[in-house]
Amino acid sequence: MNKTEKNILIVSIVFLVFLFGAVMYSVNGAQIQLPGCVTDVKPFEKGELKKLEDGRYQLFVVAKMWTFDPFKIEVPAGSVVDIYITSADVVHGFNIPEKDVNVMAIPGVIGYRQVKFDKPGEYDIICHEFCGVGHQNMFTKLVVK
Ligand code: CUA
Repeated sequence: MNKTEKNILIVSIVFLVFLFGAVMYSVNGAQIQLPGCVTDVKPFEKGELKKLEDGRYQLFVVAKMWTFDPFKIEVPAGSVVDIYITSADVVHGFNIPEKDVNVMAIPGVIGYRQVKFDKPGEYDIICHEFCGVGHQNMFTKLVVK
């Protein structure tokens, strides 16, 4: 081993020891919290439809293999719904073709659309991103009464 190789080896070892020390200090000394999942905090712990006032709703949707939570969604005709959507596992889709809603449900990300449901009826909600073997069964309906 010549002198240059020896110096490079020493610098590399010092750098690795420094890097390891910095990581250990971050975890233990500085008490840095690792980021959690969106689905670990409210309101995404569980999907829900929240009524704000007459005709105004917030819909928090958690997509997961291979369903939507909440599964049954019902709002009165004329309602304006703020839809917030995320995923608990892999990338899913949230598509309401009749309302031109096309949102990806991505873990750690919250998608948003505001939709007004004027006409009573049943609106298909479809997962339109391939998400595994149950993808073709991942759909539900939003009922407007
Ligand atoms: Cu979920 Cu496809």
